[in-house]
Amino acid sequence: MQSFWSQVDRPLLVLAPMSGYTESPFRRLVKELEPSTILVSELISAEALRRKNEKSLRLASFHPDEKNYYAVQLFGKDEETFIEAAKVVEDMGADGIDLNFGCPSPKVVGSGHGSALLKDSARSAKMIEKLVKSTHLPVSVKMRLGFYDDENFIQSALDFESAGIASIAIHGRTTKQKYTGNADWTKIYELKNHLKIPVIGNGDVTSAMIAKNKLQNLDGVMIGRASMRNPWIFAQSRAAFEGREIPKKPPIAAQLEFFRRHAKMAIDFKSEEWAMIELRKHFAHFVRGVRYAAQFRERLIRVATYAELEIIFAEIEAQNSDR
Ligand SMILES: Cc1cc2nc3c(=O)[nH]c(=O)nc-3n(C[C@H](O)[C@H](O)[C@H](O)COP(=O)(O)O)c2cc1C
Repeated sequence: MQSFWSQVDRPLLVLAPMSGYTESPFRRLVKELEPSTILVSELISAEALRRKNEKSLRLASFHPDEKNYYAVQLFGKDEETFIEAAKVVEDMGADGIDLNFGCPSPKVVGSGHGSALLKDSARSAKMIEKLVKSTHLPVSVKMRLGFYDDENFIQSALDFESAGIASIAIHGRTTKQKYTGNADWTKIYELKNHLKIPVIGNGDVTSAMIAKNKLQNLDGVMIGRASMRNPWIFAQSRAAFEGREIPKKPPIAAQLEFFRRHAKMAIDFKSEEWAMIELRKHFAHFVRGVRYAAQFRERLIRVATYAELEIIFAEIEAQNSDR
């Protein structure tokens, strides 16, 4: 059976998984703005999902609007756990499973998860092979250029391809680099020459023109941080790929409407208290582009209720009506 990764229109556009940011409400809105975007959940513990931990089930959950295509990203380290977690994902009706081989966080790496799995890719490949055989969902991998350096990353990716993965996304930095320096896309282009499966580049795409220029020989581009400030970047990138005029970011009033809807969906998804706390960091990104950003930011990072948010948004709108 062919996986969705090989059926979707090229170039592929993927919303990068971002812990604490890319929960269902944000993903839904991104999908609405550019329906060709492939969505991935934030990293979820395979062990916790296997045990049907309530928080993990909620993190993996999705709205029907997110389908076609939505993958759940798992982190773990042993095959039985991955296999059982994959069954939970299948039962939930998601479209794919993505394996986190890229997380550099000391907590995740220290316990042998995330990018620690790049240290012994032959062993990891065996684990992937068993997982792939156990599920009818396509399994993809998101990895970095390597753990300490990029010496083995082509061999690692080849091992994972032989194990049966359906696509691979590469963040062009090593684990050691974390987020420093620039993502090295030349290594990703080189990798593409060795693999048959779709290769998706990731790292530092901050505009549609950058997405288009960085694409080169790759099958697609994954965008993370820039989408927090500009969720319209996917529609803009699709236009750039197709040689159409790049639609401008909408005026401030429409941007505020996006964040109002985000807030309402987040309140429905969990609770008002949680939604406001979680959304503060989204607002901090958005507000950078408005007049009197510093003052509004100060208030938005403390916002506690939707009613308060409406008051601040009305003031932002009044101060930025010409933008
Ligand atoms: C706040 C934050 C949370 C992240 N969480 C995850 C995650 O859960 N899983 C993952 O594979 N990568 C995660 N990443 C890495 C991103 O998916 C992406 O690889 C990285 O941000 C580089 O892409 P960008 O320059 O487009 O942001 C996270 C990044 C950030 C900034």
